[in-house]
Amino acid sequence: MALILANSVWSADGPALSALIWIAPGHEAAALTRQPAMCSRAAEGDNQVLIGEALFNAPMLLGGQAARADVSCASCHSNGRRNAHFHLDGVSDAPGTADVSSSFFSLAQANDRFDPKPIPDLAYPVKVSRDPASGALERFLRGLIVEEFSGREPSPAAIGALAAYVRAIGDCGAIKEQPRRLADQAALVRVSVLAAEHLAAAGDAGTAAIAVAGARHQLGLIDERFVGAGLKRERARLLAASRALQPAAQSRAPDPAELQRWLTGFERDLLPVLARGEARSLYSEARVTAWVGRQGQ
Ligand code: HEC
Repeated sequence: MALILANSVWSADGPALSALIWIAPGHEAAALTRQPAMCSRAAEGDNQVLIGEALFNAPMLLGGQAARADVSCASCHSNGRRNAHFHLDGVSDAPGTADVSSSFFSLAQANDRFDPKPIPDLAYPVKVSRDPASGALERFLRGLIVEEFSGREPSPAAIGALAAYVRAIGDCGAIKEQPRRLADQAALVRVSVLAAEHLAAAGDAGTAAIAVAGARHQLGLIDERFVGAGLKRERARLLAASRALQPAAQSRAPDPAELQRWLTGFERDLLPVLARGEARSLYSEARVTAWVGRQGQ
């Protein structure tokens, strides 16, 4: 709860962006408008990598406090790379560090030492081999989710997909950064719903539910940035779109065709409306910078 209080100054008279909870003070504008560039090593249309990307961005894959604080793998490993702006009280010391064995994430596994480590860039193996034959990455990811982050036991398919995504993370040579745009959330809504369709078709309803919750999480991230009286209509429609996904998130056997109908409707009817509002939202770099400046006064 101290986390929320520490950030209350931000939400008193302005929008509360959930990401502010884990952004180092002074890094807000940079963290909200830019992200490390990522160029996938995967072939187009690789469904394993697609499912892995959906899970990587879904807080529900992690359990307990992480999920409640809307933290996903991508909060620390932005775009699969390294979030140099990450700072969470009790978990980090310098920006870009985290103690993943912290009691914040898992009471069961917490060690007594506070030893934050630099968040690694996943485009380059450090301690964990990416060799598929060894299975080291799969074992590491399972331990991370269940032991460090108190998540539910992931299905073997979920671990396989997550590992495929991690292996596909690549850098982009000279291009180090890219902007954060509405298109990022729109792409992740699409990836999450398509992942849920594949998982549902394969009978993995538990992992499909995580992906559907991930799609709703992305809709929430759009909603947070669509602040101000002029964007009320867009927010109301986002809420309705998110509610329409709720049954699929709770179903024991979500219908892939229904998920696809939702996605088609979202991209045809709502996304163009959102795109027209983007320049007036907190996706606009100028607006974010002005807004961050006002908070500091
Ligand atoms: C709170 C921030 C945080 C979150 C959330 C997080 N990680 Fe990490 N991750 C780290 C840190 C810090 C390390 C380095 C730990 C160390 O050096 O002992 C790490 C290490 C790793 C490594 C090993 C890299 C290597 O080659 O040594 C992989 C792979 C990885 N994380 C993937 C993930 C995935 C997948 C998720 C989501 C299930 C995730 N991480 C969630 C902070 C985080």
